Amino acid sequence: MAETRDIAILVPGVLHPHAKERIAGRFELIALERADRALVTEEMAARVRGMAAMTTVEAGFIDALPHLEIIANFGVGYDAVDAAHAGRRGIMVTNTPDVLTEEVADTAVGLLLNTVRELPRAETWLREGRWAREGGYRFSRGSLRGRTVGIFGMGRIGRAVAQRLAAFGLPIAYHNRRKLDDVPYVYHDTLPGLAAAVDTLICVAPGGPETHRAVNADVFEALGTNGVFVNIGRGSTVDEAALIQALQKGTIFAAGLDVFENEPHVPEALIALENASLLPHVGSASVATRQAMADLVVDNLVTWFTQDRAITPVPETGHVKRRGVSQSVG
Ligand code: 8YV
Repeated sequence: MAETRDIAILVPGVLHPHAKERIAGRFELIALERADRALVTEEMAARVRGMAAMTTVEAGFIDALPHLEIIANFGVGYDAVDAAHAGRRGIMVTNTPDVLTEEVADTAVGLLLNTVRELPRAETWLREGRWAREGGYRFSRGSLRGRTVGIFGMGRIGRAVAQRLAAFGLPIAYHNRRKLDDVPYVYHDTLPGLAAAVDTLICVAPGGPETHRAVNADVFEALGTNGVFVNIGRGSTVDEAALIQALQKGTIFAAGLDVFENEPHVPEALIALENASLLPHVGSASVATRQAMADLVVDNLVTWFTQDRAITPVPETGHVKRRGVSQSVG
């Protein structure tokens, strides 16, 4: 086993305890309160060669660590890490795909059902003793039956959501940067075009400049008064003010949200809405899946420093080779 104990791995902010434990057992773990270049000491700058993070990692923070080789991001979405900058600097960035795909897809379907069938409200009705006192919970105004689903972002998770909802008997269409040859669903080359063709829009798209506030007032208008919007991707992809307006005015019927623009702060206006079903970013948050994500974060660090390769590099850094290593072996 290659010796890695002297390699310093920086952990800024909060990280899954299992990941921290494994890093501490294999490397030298340096904890930092937050990813702020002002907190980087000279010693850290001289020693840190890897980073494991579940927080924003900006270009300036990366540049404060001249010997940094790899940033292992906790999460499949890595919009909080300046991966393009890392790529230009020859620094590897990894994420945690695959291990959370099915879990997040399950959550998306649950959130959609919660939204149309009002299941959390029905449970609250029971828990408050109202079933016995006042009778059954009202019939849900919405239903999944007869809906047509549009998926924005047909990546791994989008496909898993589509597969599930196809099994529920619903027709599926999608919008993606490009049409895919290996999926049987109807492709729309614009997001408003997709929204106009369906009544249930599920956002699984990654965050970042390309998708910033892509789901806007025009999209809600196109989705229509029977429209249901579900977001399991990133809050930044939605114009939240426009969404609140659309829900208040009945431009769309309802929304189910697991992600928000300014987490963990959720606008009061959203919380006040009866036609919104809200979750605190729990898409992948089961004990087992978070453990698998933590393992993949650490496995990326270990393979990088022992085998000169990353397991799950992000596309922006796919070209990055370990310094001093001309070709990865194996
Ligand atoms: C992460 C997520 O845990 O994987 C993702 O992209 O959204 C979550 O499952 C979250 O990003 C951690 O900040």
